[in-house]
Amino acid sequence: MLLTTKLLIGFTAIAITGISLFKPFSDEKYFDLETKNKTSVKTQSPGKEIYFDFCVQCHGANGKGDLKNFPPLDDSDWLKNKRKESIAAVKFGQSGEIVVNKIKYNNAMPAMGLSNQEVADVMNYIMTSWSNKQSKIVTESEVAAIKK
Ligand code: HEC
Repeated sequence: MLLTTKLLIGFTAIAITGISLFKPFSDEKYFDLETKNKTSVKTQSPGKEIYFDFCVQCHGANGKGDLKNFPPLDDSDWLKNKRKESIAAVKFGQSGEIVVNKIKYNNAMPAMGLSNQEVADVMNYIMTSWSNKQSKIVTESEVAAIKK
């Protein structure tokens, strides 16, 4: 009888410790995946976050556009050779015929209402992503100086 009681107490104690170690309801187990991803994108580059918020739906995650309605940014001769016009396009929107890598586009990109700093950040992202290797960085004051 005494032994049974001891064993019972012993087992109960082990069970309780076991449960508390396992902590089935501890919040450490539940972290917000979305916030985690957002923060890491942000620290990686503010321009990347802007790109995935504002540009990706037309130009694609790989920057290749669709070669029909949406021109590519990856390896785009327009982006490479027309620095001012490219900044102006992102700052003010762009429509009418343009030729990118020998393909004609005649469509419209709306102005997205980005601040000069955001335009600079996203330009630096697209100019250094995929196969693009622009070395002269775009500054906020360079964007501010570009008029329509
Ligand atoms: C609604 C679709 C759409 C969105 C969103 C969009 N673009 Fe465009 N973009 C276009 C189209 C269409 C053109 C070509 C316009 C024309 O035909 O004159 C273009 C042209 C460009 C060009 C010049 C041509 C080239 O391919 O090099 C750049 C640079 C550019 N976009 C960058 C951006 C950036 C950066 C963003 C996000 C901040 C963005 N675009 C968001 C549709 C879009």
